[in-house]
Amino acid sequence: MNTFETVCMQLQQAPKTWLVTGVAGFIGSNLLETLLKLNQNVVGLDNFATGHQYNLDEVQGLVSKEQWAKFKFIEGDIRQFDTCQKACAGVDYVLHEAALGSVPRSIADPIATNETNISGFLNMLTAARDAEVKSFTYAASSSTYGDHPALPKVEENIGNPLSPYAVTKYVNELYASVFARTYGFKTIGLRYFNVFGKRQDPNGAYAAVIPKWTAAMIAGDDVFINGDGETSRDFCFIDNTVQANILAATASDDAKDQVYNVAVGDRTTLNELFNEIKSALNENGIVYLKDPVYREFRAGDVRHSQASIEKIEKYLQFKPDFNIKQGIKIAMPWYVKFA
Ligand SMILES: NC(=O)c1ccc[n+]([C@@H]2O[C@H](COP(=O)([O-])OP(=O)(O)OC[C@H]3O[C@@H](n4cnc5c(N)ncnc54)[C@H](O)[C@@H]3O)[C@@H](O)[C@H]2O)c1
Repeated sequence: MNTFETVCMQLQQAPKTWLVTGVAGFIGSNLLETLLKLNQNVVGLDNFATGHQYNLDEVQGLVSKEQWAKFKFIEGDIRQFDTCQKACAGVDYVLHEAALGSVPRSIADPIATNETNISGFLNMLTAARDAEVKSFTYAASSSTYGDHPALPKVEENIGNPLSPYAVTKYVNELYASVFARTYGFKTIGLRYFNVFGKRQDPNGAYAAVIPKWTAAMIAGDDVFINGDGETSRDFCFIDNTVQANILAATASDDAKDQVYNVAVGDRTTLNELFNEIKSALNENGIVYLKDPVYREFRAGDVRHSQASIEKIEKYLQFKPDFNIKQGIKIAMPWYVKFA
């Protein structure tokens, strides 16, 4: 039995109370589903800024009645400190996912991104510290590597941020380390690299690339590639990300006050991704015949991204169970059904 399986077994034997912020979003709702299936008590906080009630409804349909009864939802905003205090009361483990994602969104409206991602983060950090929770794990981001050219990305070596969003995620890390030094409140930041999977929103101007292209192919619309298609990313299937969160939340103290890359340690170009999605849809009976349409590179985008996952493997015993091909294969039927 590996570490993750052991931790899951221990949690089932002695259930804990978790707070998942951003619970109605993509990553949050997947965390909720896994935790409820492990018979945990879960408090969820969300203001539906980008999350959806239908994500929560879907999770309800995937767990038993008894498991769903262990979920308490608070509709509220992390920009309100008293809401964060209420949400943290009596909680063992905090998984802080609520934020305004998307680089282009932050370029269009840096103030809104700052308010949720920095002020909201600080509210959550402070409320969790005051509530004396056992652990606080937060969603950091690979965007923190900015313009640092090295590949693969190693936690210690970061460059200049390339967008307001990247600034906010880096400030989270700075606050987290200051809280460790000043108050002895040690947290874990998980630098996610392009997470994908079911319930990732395919709609709207700020949709991520995999759901956006998948929806376009299903509808028979054009797929736009920003740049020459040789831009690459370390795409990480959601189940790997859920595993990292559970390992981080339950980690021992000496693994805390750290940030860890969460990825597969692999690199896929956008041209390869296009073909990967096309063939997975083909297996689901959807034939897409168009070529991609190439257009300008997008402001704020990093050219290549690939993680070193040595640190998280060593200190949290993380082991990604799914590569991009396997993840896309699993996710496609959901997108076909959702469309
Ligand atoms: N998806 C990725 O590839 C990726 C990569 C790096 C980092 N992240 C980070 O992971 C976290 C989750 O991202 P996601 O992809 O699930 O995005 P998402 O938009 O699906 O989920 C974010 C959730 O936070 C909620 N939220 C936003 N502002 C809020 C506020 N003020 N108060 C309460 N709730 C609020 C939204 O309604 C939404 O449900 C975010 O912090 C994001 O920055 C994601």
